[in-house]
Amino acid sequence: MTFPTTRMRRLRATPALRAMTRETALEPADLVAPLFVAHGDTARRPIASMPGHAQLSVAETVREAKTLAAMGVGGVILFGIPKSKDATGSEAYAEDGVVPRALRAIKESVPELLLWADVCLCEYTDHGHCGVVVDGRVDNDRTLPLLARAAVTYARAGADLIAPSDMMDGRVGRIRGALDEAGLTDTPIVAYSAKYASAFYGPFREAAESAPQFGDRRGYQMDPANGDEALREVALDLDEGADMVMVKPALPYLDVIRRVKDRFGVPVAAYNVSGEYSMIRAAAERGWLDGDRAALEVLTAIRRAGADVILTYHAKEVAPLLGGEER
Ligand code: PBG
Repeated sequence: MTFPTTRMRRLRATPALRAMTRETALEPADLVAPLFVAHGDTARRPIASMPGHAQLSVAETVREAKTLAAMGVGGVILFGIPKSKDATGSEAYAEDGVVPRALRAIKESVPELLLWADVCLCEYTDHGHCGVVVDGRVDNDRTLPLLARAAVTYARAGADLIAPSDMMDGRVGRIRGALDEAGLTDTPIVAYSAKYASAFYGPFREAAESAPQFGDRRGYQMDPANGDEALREVALDLDEGADMVMVKPALPYLDVIRRVKDRFGVPVAAYNVSGEYSMIRAAAERGWLDGDRAALEVLTAIRRAGADVILTYHAKEVAPLLGGEER
C-alpha cells in the first residue's frame, strides 16, 4: 500500500494519537542523577562548567536526594571529593570517607531511593589516574584489590548498586568475589563496560577535581573508533558477574548501545555525561536552542537506542516535564 491509501500523517494528527502510538517511554524512574559529595561544611560549591550543579556537603546531598526522590527520579550516583588525596586513593575505601558517610545518611532518610556508588580511584589519587601508578603506568593488578575494598565499603554503607568505572581488566570478577565473601551476595554490579576515552568528561573533571596530572586515560579507556571491542568488553563483564552493563558517553555512542542491547539482551545503562549536559546548557543560555526540549529529545533517543536506565545531569530539570503534555 502506498500513497494515497497510506498516509503516515494520519497517526500524527493529534496529541492523543501521537501519545497512543509513541514507541518509546521516558520516565523519571529510568533516570539516575549524579551528585558530587564534598568534604567540609560548605553547603554548595557551584561547578562553573555545569550550571545547576554544585559540590554538595553531606547534609546538602541528603536534601538533594530527598528532592529527587519526591520527583520520582529512580536513583542517585555519588562521586566523592575527599579532604586529601594520596598515591593509592585511600579515601576511596576509608569507612569514614565522604561517600560512605553520604550513603549512610541518605539511606536513613530516603530509603526508597536507589543508591549507586561509583567505584574508581581517580577522585582520590594525587595523580588523578583511576588506579595505582607504577613506573608511570596504571598497574592493573595492583589496583584490583583497592577497587574491591572500595566496593565492599560502599555496599556496607548502604549502596544498592556498585558501579566500577575504572576500566581495569578483571575488576568485575574481583568485586563480585569480594562482595560475596563479605556476605553481600545480593548487591548488584553495574559495570561501566564500554567506557570511552572521551573529551566529553571535561566538566566532570572540574566537578570532581579528578583530571589526570600527567598523560591521559587512553591506556585504559576505550578508543572512540571501536565498536566490536565494546561487545567484547560487555561479554567479559557479564561472564565475570555483571548484572547490568553501561555504555558511556551516550550520545556519540548510540550505535554501541543498540548493538549491546541486541546482542546480549541484558539491562543496559547509558551515561549521558557532563560534556553532553554542558553543551546543551551552554547553547540554551545563549538562546541558541530550547534546553528543555533538547534534553528531552536526547534522553528519549538514548532510550530508543536501547538503554533501560540513563545516568544524567538533566534528571532534576526534566523529571517534572515527563508524563505530561508534549513539548
Ligand atoms: C571516574 C569517572 C569519570 C566519569 C564518571 N566516572 C571521569 C573520567 O573517567 O575521567 C565521567 C562522568 C561525566 O563526564 O559525567 N573514572
